[in-house]
Parts: sequence; structure tokens; C-alpha cells
Amino acid sequence: MSWISDYQYEWHERLAMKIMRSGGYIPRHIAFVMDGNRRYAKSQHLRCIEGHSHGFDKMAKTLRWCLDIGIKEVTTFAFSIENFKRSDDEVNGLLDLAREKFRDLINDEPKLNEYSIRIMVIGNINLLPEDLQKLIAKAMIITEHNDKLFLNIAFSYTSRDEITQSVETILKLGDELKPEDINERLIEECLYTRHSPPPDLIFRTSGETRISDFMMWQLSTTVIYFTNILWPEITLWNFLSGIFAYQRASIRLESFKRQKRLEHAQQAKNCNYYSERIQHFLRTLDSYRKNVLLSLSTSN
Ligand code: FPP
Ligand code: MG
Repeated sequence: MSWISDYQYEWHERLAMKIMRSGGYIPRHIAFVMDGNRRYAKSQHLRCIEGHSHGFDKMAKTLRWCLDIGIKEVTTFAFSIENFKRSDDEVNGLLDLAREKFRDLINDEPKLNEYSIRIMVIGNINLLPEDLQKLIAKAMIITEHNDKLFLNIAFSYTSRDEITQSVETILKLGDELKPEDINERLIEECLYTRHSPPPDLIFRTSGETRISDFMMWQLSTTVIYFTNILWPEITLWNFLSGIFAYQRASIRLESFKRQKRLEHAQQAKNCNYYSERIQHFLRTLDSYRKNVLLSLSTSN
């Protein structure tokens, strides 16, 4: 399958994977900022879009490593809303690459089901061409019952937009809500990541030490790992270095995260989250989102 490539492990790589798995915490959810594709293309005298295409191939390899080490949820930053400001050539090239890959993914449905991979695109897909919206909707619908690996593709995404869309959703669907229902917890429930735990580890390549408007709401307890390697050059050893950094940080972080989870549960009680009014609103939100996808995926 093009989205999860095969990887022939050398014996020492297999051993390293085994040691990491048995030696400590494995993140449940990892997020990647796949940066450095154009610098890689330049260094290899390739066209910029070939850099992105190599970036996709490396993403497929990385997903294989994630699956094999026992990570349950992966989020990749594939296209920022800011990327629309790049040259027409590059934007069209990236959109064509996405069309090709989502078509492959839909054709690979039996394999996706065999691995039980659920695809979620997080982002403002209204900003994308309609044919691509339909492909994305179809990929999400055909995998919605899978539950072994959750793969979230941030496409046409920024955090600020995600939070803005969340507020807009409350105004659009929340006729019955009262002013006192509007709180952090409700805004969080209307983010694209409503059904995901926050990332445990965020991994950014290419030496840039920025977050770039990615999952800013979700990152408050996340370990951040930066590496100088360009994304298309990432190796299993770079990946394992990130996991190791997470394991070291986890020794201190685990009790803090446990505390945060308890506070989160308590917050739900304090803010009326379990009231019928809010639960009704959240059911409306889920079915609204599902209907948008269904009508996109079945329209001609
Ligand atoms: C950042 O490198 C990378 C991107 C803007 C695109 C990332 C996309 C992929 C890896 C392909 C994913 C495709 C699908 C369909 C999921 P950059 O362009 O900022 O490179 P630079 O930092 O060297 O300039
Ligand atoms: Mg960049």
C-alpha cells in the first residue's frame, strides 16, 4: 500500500525497535511537522514537487515504523493554510500529489481494512478544490469503522483557523446553548481533533525550532522534539532518537499528565458537560459533520 510502505529491517534495527518497545513509554499519539522538502529537492537538484513526493514516500515509511513500534495515532502536517501563499506551481503540484495519493488510498481500501487504519483529514477542506474535497470525504467514510491505527492528515490546516472554526460551529449549530455553556471544554469539543487524545510527542525536522500554527490548543503537555535532518532524509535512527527523547521526558512527565487528565475530567463535571443540552449539541455536531462528508462522498 502506498500510504504504509514495507520496510525490511536489518537485524540491529529490529533489535533496537524491540529494546525501545520493552524499555519504556511508547507515545500513544505522535505528530510530525514534515519540514525541509524543498531544501532536500534543492540539494539533490530536483524540482520542488519531487521533494514533496519524496516527502510523501518518507511519510509512508514513517507510518510503518509507527505501526511496528505500537503507536496508535499519528498526525502529520501535510498542508498548511499558509502554504496557499506559495507559487501557483507549487500549490497546484501539492494539490495534484494529494489527488493522486487519496485516489491510491481509496483503491487500497481492502488493505486499509486489513490493517484497520482510520483516515481523518483535519483542516478546513472548504478551501480546497471540490474534486479533492470529495476524495478526502470518501477516504474518511470508507475507513470510519477501522480502529487499530488512527491517521490524521492536517491538510488546509492551521491552529488559529481550527479554533476559529470551532467558535463558528458553536454559533451555527448551538441554537439551544446558553452563554454559560461556552467554555474551554466546549471549544475543545468542536475542534477537528474532538475524538483524539492530545499528541504525546511532536517531531519536527529540518532544524526549524517553531510550532508554525500546528495543534497549538492540543500541545500543552506534549514533548517537543526538533532534529536538523530534512524530512525526506529521515531514518529509522532519527525516528528512534525522538522516541528516546520522549521516554526520557516521560519519567518526569507521566505524573503531571495524569494530574492533567484528572483535571480535565473534573472540568467536564464543573462546566455542565454532561448536561442533556450539551450532549445533544455534540450529537448534532457529529451528525452534521458526518452528513457533510456523506453528501460530498456520494455527489458526482
Ligand atoms: C514542508 O517542507 C512540507 C510541506 C509544505 C508539504 C509536506 C507534504 C508532504 C510530505 C506530502 C504529503 C502529501 C499528502 C497527500 C498527505 P517545505 O516545503 O517547507 O520545505 P523547506 O522548509 O525546505 O522550504
Ligand atoms: Mg519549511
